[in-house]
Amino acid sequence: MKLNDYVDFTKGSLDYRRRNGGGRKQALAKAIGLKKAANPTVVDATAGLGRDAFILASLGCKVHMLERSPVVAALLSESLERAKNNTDIAPIIERLKLTHEDATNYLYKLCLIENIDVIYLDPMYPHRQKSALVKQEMRLLRTIVGEDVDAAALLEAALESRCKRVVVKRPKVATNLNDHKPSFCIESKNTRYDVYLK
Ligand SMILES: C[S@@+](CC[C@H](N)C(=O)[O-])C[C@H]1O[C@@H](n2cnc3c(N)ncnc32)[C@H](O)[C@@H]1O
Repeated sequence: MKLNDYVDFTKGSLDYRRRNGGGRKQALAKAIGLKKAANPTVVDATAGLGRDAFILASLGCKVHMLERSPVVAALLSESLERAKNNTDIAPIIERLKLTHEDATNYLYKLCLIENIDVIYLDPMYPHRQKSALVKQEMRLLRTIVGEDVDAAALLEAALESRCKRVVVKRPKVATNLNDHKPSFCIESKNTRYDVYLK
């Protein structure tokens, strides 16, 4: 399978997750702070394949995605264009915006010009020995972007911005990013969301 097969919002695991992922009760939604009718505006500063952003948009959030890899940003942009032609999901895609930028430099400025409620970070996990546990699409993505060795600087940039809530996705057993203790955590089977409230 090629990487762009994984960036298809209209079918496969993403379509399944949109329909059966647990709606606002799923851990990602709770971490972002989706309550009742509230639809926070989110910056997904590590857009990658746009999967988490798509789920948040399907739950009603407006999501501004930032991606620094030119290859990944191009793949994502192409998938968004294709998905606009699908009448089922076109309204979801309308809530997604993509900018090809390095978020560490861009976040501060973005939060001054846009009203952002939440910054979401999902930097590439540190390489693990048990690679069978790492999903195929993440292994392919890693071959393109490598390790996000500067993830700690990205967290600090997010915490220095005007945004009041920062969420970091981590493997359940990982230490806090940059040893920065969160306000609280939301856990799912293999994943932990560290939530920083300012
Ligand atoms: C683990 S992937 C994110 C997966 C994404 N959450 C999804 O659901 O598809 C991490 C992505 O963040 C990007 N990234 C890491 N640091 C970044 C930064 N400072 N600015 C913009 N993109 C960044 C990487 O290039 C990579 O594509």
